Amino acid sequence: MPTVVYHLPDGSNSVVEVPAGQSVMDGSVRNNLPGIIAECGGSCSCATCHVYLGEDAAQCFGEPSMEERDLLEYLEGASPGSRLACQLIVRAEMGIVEVTVAQSGG
Ligand code: FES
Repeated sequence: MPTVVYHLPDGSNSVVEVPAGQSVMDGSVRNNLPGIIAECGGSCSCATCHVYLGEDAAQCFGEPSMEERDLLEYLEGASPGSRLACQLIVRAEMGIVEVTVAQSGG
């Protein structure tokens, strides 16, 4: 099963197996990890599932949609590696992917 390594806001890491077809947000919420609030439940409208991707991970997941881009643009603390975790769908062939979870609410 694909594995997501979450680098959490408190500096710790959590390693979670996330079934293909689920999002990086799902993997976090199902395991009660801190940082990803996911207020909107994954419909790309709340931006409380902000994560940062390194280059490798960014390539894995492909380009963000226009909708996601619009939200990221107004997000405090956004950087070029910023993504919304609910839009990052895990695929079987990914292996291990690393994400850095942004501070809650930002
Ligand atoms: S969970 Fe709301 S935008 Fe991702």
